Amino acid sequence: MCAVAGCAKRRRAGGQLLTRLLSRARQSHQSAWCNPDQVSLSIKDHSRRHVLDGKRILLIVGGGIAAYKSLELIRLLAREGIGARVILTRAGAEFVTPLSLGSLSGDKVYQELFSLTDEAEMGHIELSRSADLVVVCPATADLMAKAANGLANDLASTALLATDKPVLMVPTMNVRMWEHAATKRNVAQLRADGVTVMEPDVGPMACGEFGAGRLPEPERIAKEVRRMLAGPKGHGPLAGFRAIITAGPTREPLDPVRFISNHSSGKQGYAIADALARLGADVRLVTGPTQLPIPDGVTALRVETAVEMQDAVKASLPADIFIGVAAVADWRPATRAQGKLKLKGGAEDKVALQLVENPDILKSIGAKRKDRPRLVIGFAAETSDVERHARGKLARKGCDWIVANDVSGDVMGGADNEVLLVTKAGTERWPRMGKAEVAMKLAERIAATFDDSRTNAAE
Ligand code: C5P
Repeated sequence: MCAVAGCAKRRRAGGQLLTRLLSRARQSHQSAWCNPDQVSLSIKDHSRRHVLDGKRILLIVGGGIAAYKSLELIRLLAREGIGARVILTRAGAEFVTPLSLGSLSGDKVYQELFSLTDEAEMGHIELSRSADLVVVCPATADLMAKAANGLANDLASTALLATDKPVLMVPTMNVRMWEHAATKRNVAQLRADGVTVMEPDVGPMACGEFGAGRLPEPERIAKEVRRMLAGPKGHGPLAGFRAIITAGPTREPLDPVRFISNHSSGKQGYAIADALARLGADVRLVTGPTQLPIPDGVTALRVETAVEMQDAVKASLPADIFIGVAAVADWRPATRAQGKLKLKGGAEDKVALQLVENPDILKSIGAKRKDRPRLVIGFAAETSDVERHARGKLARKGCDWIVANDVSGDVMGGADNEVLLVTKAGTERWPRMGKAEVAMKLAERIAATFDDSRTNAAE
């Protein structure tokens, strides 16, 4: 029996979802190739940019000085193909116009409960269920109080009572109002009813006071929306697949206070771990020292040196996917001094530092071995002749794919990346985009590859 067919049952749920999501992309087959493990993995041109493409939210815009941020939220979500249909409350319309909301959402803005024309087009019950998620932003103290008590005396509160979809509330109000016992009671009641209520930001307020009650920044709200739309951890097209990602730099100590390292921030590796987890994979992130928070739903193993990183990776096997994103230091000091090394006061002209080579983690995982992951992906940071070097690395390290980039600019530590995907079948040049977008595109490509191999095995 084919190895893929043997795994099919365990992964069927995720596969069905992906099959639906990628039906459009499946029509544009480019090429196919075999990896050394007799599993046929193919590369295709997937026109769909994001896995949440096509999802919709119902956005209820309440009255608050920060209502303008809902415009930015609509824009951020639209970039990922997530649509918004808007209900604007009477108070909300004092701060933001239906014209702005309608222009950005590309849809009608609903305002009245007793509107004959709206009811004829779409009844308020239907409206409350027309999206995958209801988002109240800004959620005022009044809107939350109504929802917590089941009141339904306008379109927004009626939609909240009638919906059968998950609800996200993004509160904003004066700090005293947020800390009032009545608001606390209402928030607790909403959470007990299954509503997700975000914590407001702390800071200076429009009214001149300081404290908790500011509307979170649209990026944070968009992230929460994406998390809720993606569904609970362990769901998605990569459910049942295990991935190991290395990220960040390594530190190779000279003595207790000094080390050799590099400028890697870990951003790209963390973003890939996050993207794979969002698609349902069970992700183990083996990370060198970074300043970044561990993404939700990802299990992290923190290490310092290359040798520790290799041990942690090997201890995490078996896995279906290995991605070496870490900037592993090529050398380490031959000895590590027990005490702090001292200056010789000019007694010596030159001080020699003896180095030894570190283990090549990617090469050892890519080599033919019993527990070789089915997909081994390396990164190649180059300063010239990127494709040629990447192709050499693909062969030398036994990888299936290499993601190559030119780091002569501001890539290391920066927010964007411009990469080539190099495989045995050919090279694709991806446009410059944010590291999170590169990560999601790669994760979706991986999901499509496993889905295709499953489909081929079943045929
Ligand atoms: O040889 P180079 O450092 O350019 O190779 C980069 C790729 O190899 C990256 O995927 C990196 O994570 C991996 N690598 C490794 N162990 C090393 C050196 C690099 O896993 N010692």
